[in-house]
Amino acid sequence: MEYTVMIPAAGSGKRMGAGMNKLFLELSNKPILVHTLLVFEQDPACAGIIIAVKREEKPQIQAMIEQFGVTKIKALVDGGEERQQSVAACLQAYDKDDIVLVHDAARPFIRRHVIGALVETAARAGAAIAGVRTKDTMKLAPEGTVEKTVDREGLWIIQTPQAFRYGILKAASDQAAAAGFLGTDESMLVERIGHPVKIVESTYDNIKMTTKEDLLFGEVLLKQSGGLER
Ligand code: CTP
Ligand code: MG
Repeated sequence: MEYTVMIPAAGSGKRMGAGMNKLFLELSNKPILVHTLLVFEQDPACAGIIIAVKREEKPQIQAMIEQFGVTKIKALVDGGEERQQSVAACLQAYDKDDIVLVHDAARPFIRRHVIGALVETAARAGAAIAGVRTKDTMKLAPEGTVEKTVDREGLWIIQTPQAFRYGILKAASDQAAAAGFLGTDESMLVERIGHPVKIVESTYDNIKMTTKEDLLFGEVLLKQSGGLER
């Protein structure tokens, strides 16, 4: 089933501490952003890519798109101060009521079978997000002293992609903006308007390139037997 992907890429990568947008850093000689774009370029089910970028980085990103042969870009929009606003700008550039995915540009290791499961689930249920089960013991300790051990059963670590019927996500995004509500993912906005959200089991290697150590993991993932089976 076809989908369109919205990719927020307008961050500054402060935690990476590279002094530039972390998406320009290279893994195996390709910028992180290009790795992510190529996942969708190469997925036959992906009908188009809408990407939010910083205005001053647009020329550099346009050059990368050409150099690496990314042909599915439907719109390159101006990102906002917050990730949520960058995603809202992407949604503004779209209007078909079919399945849209939101996926962080900083997660280049997403697998195609997870994308497929998300799209199918969102088509059926309206909203589906990628997640993995927690492996560690979880404790609640807001002040640094343990209040309690949280039952690990039923706890998920949430990633992107997050997939929705466009109308649901657009309504959730518009209502959040009107109320001045800022969430940390799209699901929070959809939960807020009372729509159920399904979780699709993803893979532990769908990591977000956030700090320097993540680059090391990333190189290892790319080097394993001929690269990733998507
Ligand atoms: N992003 C965006 N617009 C923003 C902030 C973030 O489009 N105003 C994008 C980033 O480019 C990234 C994704 O959202 O692809 C996930 O955000 P994160 O990993 O937090 O990246 P940064 O915000 O760039 O990093 P940091 O928080 O360390 O500054
Ligand atoms: Mg950030």
